[in-house]
Amino acid sequence: MKKVILATVAGAVMMIQAPLAMSEEVASLRGDNNLDVEAQMFEKKKQVQVQGGIKRSWDLQPPSIPHDIEKDRVSLQENTCMRCHNKENHEKEKAPEIGETHYKDRDGKTLTKLSSRRYFCRQCHTPQADAPALVENTF
Ligand code: HEC
Ligand code: HEC
Repeated sequence: MKKVILATVAGAVMMIQAPLAMSEEVASLRGDNNLDVEAQMFEKKKQVQVQGGIKRSWDLQPPSIPHDIEKDRVSLQENTCMRCHNKENHEKEKAPEIGETHYKDRDGKTLTKLSSRRYFCRQCHTPQADAPALVENTF
């Protein structure tokens, strides 16, 4: 019985020590603050505005958002992106209409409305900021 308890204690000590040793080598994007201290607010970057859109890196890439979306809201009640990107308003707003795939349901049937699979625009489309990359990226 004593042996079992000893082994458990040794195991627990190792589990506590291992992360401590590792934390010295792995730098977290969160910085050096402990988890029980409030995180430092990151510097907010201005979203870039690019006339004519941002060039895609490959054909079927969800295009990056070339404008500010600070005031846009996507929730159960509203989707402000669709005010400009829907069939009815896009010409007036000089905005491209959502792609054809955005009207398809999961069985490939074409719907008259935006498919729920494409409701959360920012799942795929992201605004851009003029900022250095947080981590190295060779893609
Ligand atoms: C007030 C109208 C308006 C609203 C609201 C709006 N957009 Fe746009 N959007 C535009 C216009 C205009 C363009 C074209 C800009 C250009 O090409 O110069 C555009 C371009 C885009 C593009 C680039 C398309 C391409 O083919 O390059 C994406 C993606 C996009 N918007 C996504 C969004 C998302 C996501 C939201 C909501 C978070 C949103 N937009 C809200 C007007 C709007
Ligand atoms: C699951 C990923 C996904 C979601 C969610 C999504 N899109 Fe897209 N979007 C894409 C991809 C991929 C393309 C490029 C291929 C295409 O047109 O389908 C695209 C293309 C576009 C384009 C350019 C169309 C063109 O013909 O140039 C616009 C504008 C756009 N999306 C707006 C939106 C808006 C607004 C929403 C939310 C209502 C949204 N997307 C949600 C993946 C997505």
